[in-house]
Amino acid sequence: MKLPSIVCYVIWCSKIVLAESRGSTRTSPTYYKKGPLQTITGAEISSDANDSVVNYSSNWAGVILNPPSSDKPFTSVSGTFAVPAPSVPSGQPDGKYTSSVWLGIDGVNNTNAILQAGIDITITKAGDQAGYVFGAFYEWYPNYAVDFTSFSLTAGDVIAIDITTTSSTSGVVILENVTTGQSISQSVSAPSSSALVRGTSAEWIVENFEGLGAALNFSDFGSVVFENCAAGTTSESWGISDASLVRMKTLGGSILTDVEILGSSEARINYIQ
Ligand SMILES: *[C@@H]1O[C@H](CO)[C@@H](O)[C@H](O)[C@H]1NC(C)=O
Ligand SMILES: *[C@@H]1O[C@H](CO)[C@@H](O)[C@H](O)[C@H]1NC(C)=O
Ligand SMILES: *[C@@H]1O[C@H](CO)[C@@H](O)[C@H](O)[C@H]1NC(C)=O
Ligand SMILES: *[C@@H]1O[C@H](CO)[C@@H](O)[C@H](O)[C@H]1NC(C)=O
Ligand SMILES: *[C@@H]1O[C@H](CO)[C@@H](O)[C@H](O)[C@H]1NC(C)=O
Repeated sequence: MKLPSIVCYVIWCSKIVLAESRGSTRTSPTYYKKGPLQTITGAEISSDANDSVVNYSSNWAGVILNPPSSDKPFTSVSGTFAVPAPSVPSGQPDGKYTSSVWLGIDGVNNTNAILQAGIDITITKAGDQAGYVFGAFYEWYPNYAVDFTSFSLTAGDVIAIDITTTSSTSGVVILENVTTGQSISQSVSAPSSSALVRGTSAEWIVENFEGLGAALNFSDFGSVVFENCAAGTTSESWGISDASLVRMKTLGGSILTDVEILGSSEARINYIQ
């Protein structure tokens, strides 16, 4: 569905109070990388009659929107969400578990580049003790993510992210604390001449991502609701009513997430216990 060209941020979720979820903000580099969509073929047709197409992926869960036509690529993507407080998946041992919530451009049809921004959350659990580390980042894949070290985060914070490309090799990422209205703006550029952003998709994703050369264990992120979702071409803004859905599955075949479009600019991604 096409949206009016001025998208106003009017409705915010109320701040969720999660006393047990206080954590620290990441301050050192992690060499975490969010990558292109890895689809799992052979199980792509939804049994949910309301969803036109649902695909499965080993690393993404969320909503993918294609531009209105190939000569009108997306040049912006935006949305808001509340920082979740993940837990260790039921039946899993104590240890370190991660997940990432982000939005971005490309990574589906164009797998040479993704311009994205969001947050990573790590929970480390040992017995009764659980600690969280939150990190806000931008990433121009295939580079590693770069942290916004001065953007402090706690579960329940509502953040707004706005990404705009100014050419195939440059862009601007804005993160805003919706509670205070404070924001950070960061100019970004392509890490190489082969990592060109083409605007062939916009997406709102929870990802099971990788660290430097190693798989990380995926957390139970609970529920993430993306609101105020919009993707823009140079002349129009689009909501997500006609977006396609991608649910996460393990390579062993268990479905890990449910994804639902709740309206023209809102979608919910749930971890399935
Ligand atoms: C499909 O949509 C209808 C009407 O909005 C709703 O009543 C129904 O619960 C939906 N089905 C599923 C499986 O979500
Ligand atoms: C989803 O699955 C359909 C049907 O197999 C396929 O045509 C389409 O390319 C897939 N979309 C993505 C984003 O992988
Ligand atoms: C937003 O500001 C509030 C109030 O200062 C603070 O508690 C919260 O941690 C901030 N969140 C982010 C994402 O900066
Ligand atoms: C991306 O790929 C999908 C599935 O093959 C296709 O339906 C869609 O038109 C493509 N979008 C663009 C912008 O190339
Ligand atoms: C992931 O979980 C497995 C099984 O519990 C464990 O052996 C491995 O060390 C964990 N990996 C990380 C990076 O924590």
